[in-house]
Amino acid sequence: MKFNAGWLLGGLVAVLLSTAWVTAGADTDIPTKFSNRGSIANTRHNMTQRQAEGGGPAATNMDPYRNDYQEVCVYCHTPHGANSNVALPLWNRTIKATTYQTYNQLGTASLTQPVTQPGPNSLACLSCHDGQVGVDSVINMPGSGGYNANQATTQSDTFLNAWNNSRGPDATRHMGLNQTGCLACHSAGALLGGNATDFAVFVIGTDLRNDHPVGVRFPTAGPGVDFKPPTATRVGMAWFDDNSNRRPDTNEVRLYDSGEGFEVECASCHDPHGVPSNGVGSQFNPTFLRVTNAGSALCLTCHSK
Ligand code: HEC
Ligand code: HEC
Ligand code: HEC
Ligand code: HEC
Ligand code: HEC
Repeated sequence: MKFNAGWLLGGLVAVLLSTAWVTAGADTDIPTKFSNRGSIANTRHNMTQRQAEGGGPAATNMDPYRNDYQEVCVYCHTPHGANSNVALPLWNRTIKATTYQTYNQLGTASLTQPVTQPGPNSLACLSCHDGQVGVDSVINMPGSGGYNANQATTQSDTFLNAWNNSRGPDATRHMGLNQTGCLACHSAGALLGGNATDFAVFVIGTDLRNDHPVGVRFPTAGPGVDFKPPTATRVGMAWFDDNSNRRPDTNEVRLYDSGEGFEVECASCHDPHGVPSNGVGSQFNPTFLRVTNAGSALCLTCHSK
């Protein structure tokens, strides 16, 4: 590009704007090499090696630190031998028994609704995002890789070490999203260096007091002044059926009932597979959101403000 003052100014404005967005927590995204369209395979939720497809961790960086199962779904799902401790679709991941610090413990005077421990549709996400277990900690490794029912609640490195990586060195560590795990490279001032994208903001941890409440019951009285009522319900779920097709579509915000009434959970706002922003094949909404938050559209789906 030809150097000129206008370009310099534009660049500065862009830098200032992007910094402001990050600190203000608006709906922007940390740049990725993945295309973020078509499939979860082209998103950050692909834990395999996908350099050839334009995104994904480089083998040399990653192979020592997590098993490369070479299948995108298996880090979360398995067709057989799934985790039956938790009401989640064919769940293959370790879910460690945990008592989370919940949003109500912050003690804001304005919170009116009861908050319980996160339900299944949050525990799914927290099984990676609280940083307690490795991203590769699964019950059923692909093919004849091995099966261990104890993995449903407890990560065994001995079990995970049995995985044989056919296209690179075997992993000797099974890192999670925490300071001494993936963030050993993926953070500012990283322990292992490596100049990798900073993932610090992706680490939710076990203290949920600084996150939008989850496990919080949606007010049922309604059409209320403060909340918009969902427009469809079935057993276990209520949702904002924007296209009136009576199906909870990926781009519709939903509430989950895991026995305590309809509650907000992580998957109310996010779909971990990616949601096309404008029909099949289009770029996914940033940060796996079901509804773009441009103009605070996501917030305004539930809140009347
Ligand atoms: C009420 C809606 C809502 C709920 C519930 C919710 N999120 Fe989010 N989440 C958002 C929005 C909006 C963003 C984008 C924020 C931004 O761009 O700064 C986001 C961003 C993120 C990010 C990217 C990091 C960041 O701060 O930008 C992660 C990781 C994340 N959410 C995980 C979770 C997990 C895990 C849960 C459950 C514990 C959860 N979210 C519950 C709305 C929600
Ligand atoms: C990073 C974890 C993750 C990966 C990888 C993943 N999923 Fe999922 N999947 C989930 C979670 C979490 C749910 C439950 C969402 C909810 O709470 O409603 C789910 C739900 C589903 C469902 C049922 C509900 C729905 O949304 O249709 C299907 C089908 C599914 N996944 C298929 C797949 C397939 C096929 C792949 C691989 C191409 C895949 N998933 C990869 C996390 C994942
Ligand atoms: C298999 C582990 C795993 C599970 C399960 C998982 N994530 Fe993630 N997610 C990650 C990792 C690791 C990252 C960090 C980025 C990366 O790997 O590139 C990430 C990144 C994200 C981001 C940031 C994406 C971006 O481009 O800025 C969001 C948002 C997010 N996850 C939300 C969720 C939500 C919500 C769920 C549950 C519905 C979930 N994740 C389940 C591993 C997981
Ligand atoms: C030894 C250093 C190191 C460790 C440890 C490490 N990474 Fe990376 N990773 C890198 C480097 C270097 C890159 C390429 C530069 C970049 O994209 O940030 C990368 C890239 C990635 C990418 C592609 C980012 C994108 O959006 O294009 C993902 C996803 C990823 N790593 C996930 C992980 C996860 C999950 C862990 C923990 C299990 C992890 N990494 C641990 C060094 C590391
Ligand atoms: C799926 C529905 C839903 C979505 C989407 C949603 N919220 Fe909420 N939000 C709730 C519920 C339910 C409560 C609990 C209200 C109460 O206890 O009075 C709540 C509470 C809050 C509170 C009050 C917390 C307190 O301490 O009183 C704030 C602030 C808030 N949400 C902001 C947001 C923002 C900002 C967004 C968009 C990023 C958002 N919400 C998206 C359902 C939602």
